[in-house]
Amino acid sequence: MSDRNVQQEWCNWEGMLPASHYIDNGIYLSEDILQQERSRVFGKVWAFLVHESEIPEPGDYVTTNLGGTPLVVVRDLEGVIRTFLNVCPHRGATLVNAPSGKARGFTCLFHQWSFDTTGKCRAVPNPEGFQDVNLGTGNFSLREFRTGQKLGLIFTTMDDDAEPLEDYLGEVFANIEDVMAPYALEVFHFHRIVIPTNWKLWAATNVELYHVWLHSLNRATSLKAPHWLERKPLSYPNGHLAFEPVKIAYDKGKLGSRDLTLPGLAPNEARLLHVFPDLMVNIRSSSIRLDRVTPLSAGEVMVECRGLGIKGESEEDRNRRISEHNEFWGPFGRNLPEDALAAVVQMRAIRNGNQPHALCAREPGTTPAMSDEPLRHFYRKWSELMECSSSNASKRVAHPELEPADVV
Ligand code: FES
Ligand SMILES: [Fe+2]
Repeated sequence: MSDRNVQQEWCNWEGMLPASHYIDNGIYLSEDILQQERSRVFGKVWAFLVHESEIPEPGDYVTTNLGGTPLVVVRDLEGVIRTFLNVCPHRGATLVNAPSGKARGFTCLFHQWSFDTTGKCRAVPNPEGFQDVNLGTGNFSLREFRTGQKLGLIFTTMDDDAEPLEDYLGEVFANIEDVMAPYALEVFHFHRIVIPTNWKLWAATNVELYHVWLHSLNRATSLKAPHWLERKPLSYPNGHLAFEPVKIAYDKGKLGSRDLTLPGLAPNEARLLHVFPDLMVNIRSSSIRLDRVTPLSAGEVMVECRGLGIKGESEEDRNRRISEHNEFWGPFGRNLPEDALAAVVQMRAIRNGNQPHALCAREPGTTPAMSDEPLRHFYRKWSELMECSSSNASKRVAHPELEPADVV
């Protein structure tokens, strides 16, 4: 066998493995795939938008977007949390332009149509011409989407036929309920990063723990922690996932003690769960981190990072929590920037299409924490929603005449 053939075999995962064990790198590059994801994935799921503490009072609102659709989440004047399409129904201008605020209603800057916090149109300047075609202010509203709440996390679906939120989430939150349910939490940390990579590469980083090798500090605090490698991933319906609790060996990383432990956790305990497609909840000792992933284009993702603390805690505890959170997960922490770097170099390398597939082939073996089953679980749900296989989905975009069954 020539050297040339050896190299071809090495790269040809398609010929060597079942389709479930490799991923078509084309699904990270194609704007057409992203266009389909906007409707088939982000248009169908229940997705996390904000934490309830970000809109604590009637009239408080936050603007955001879900898979490219602009939204405004508001606590109406009766205290009900609602989500609206942030588009004026008159001629399509953005209705609410501020990132957040407090209002008794929303007025579009273009022709000054105004809406109350329940979405009802309450005034239109010079209404008489509209009355001639039977358009009165009382008979239309903003487009509202179903909104639900779990442990203070606000979820929305843009699919009116979606199953109830409780059914969509199933039991996955049972893994952190004892930590997040007994007391009120609030966001104390928020930052956004825009990373030149595909959104799925970031989501995959959150469920693939083999990459502990990337993190110089985690190599000590995780790999040297008892039972860390035996930590099993737990798969739930709808693509959700959790990992068994584990204790982190902070002493192996020469870090100070972690005795500001959240109620519900054992000392040094960590929990981790991923809610398909775009939310990760990562809990460690004193800190709760939420990651929310929003695609901006095929090659660009926005990640919103939130840190949660206990409402009403002492200034001393809050300062310690901020410090311990940021040590790992702040913009200059020991963990998060390394994940961003990996996602960037991954995207940069595959952009030219020369490496057609990536692996998700690891089996649990004796180190289930490093299994690729979480990746396969993520992509099974993705493939179901996209009606094509993540092992070769870019073929369907290139050949739309093919039936889904021909490319699975
Ligand atoms: S586009 Fe909003 S009032 Fe005209
Ligand atoms: Fe990481």
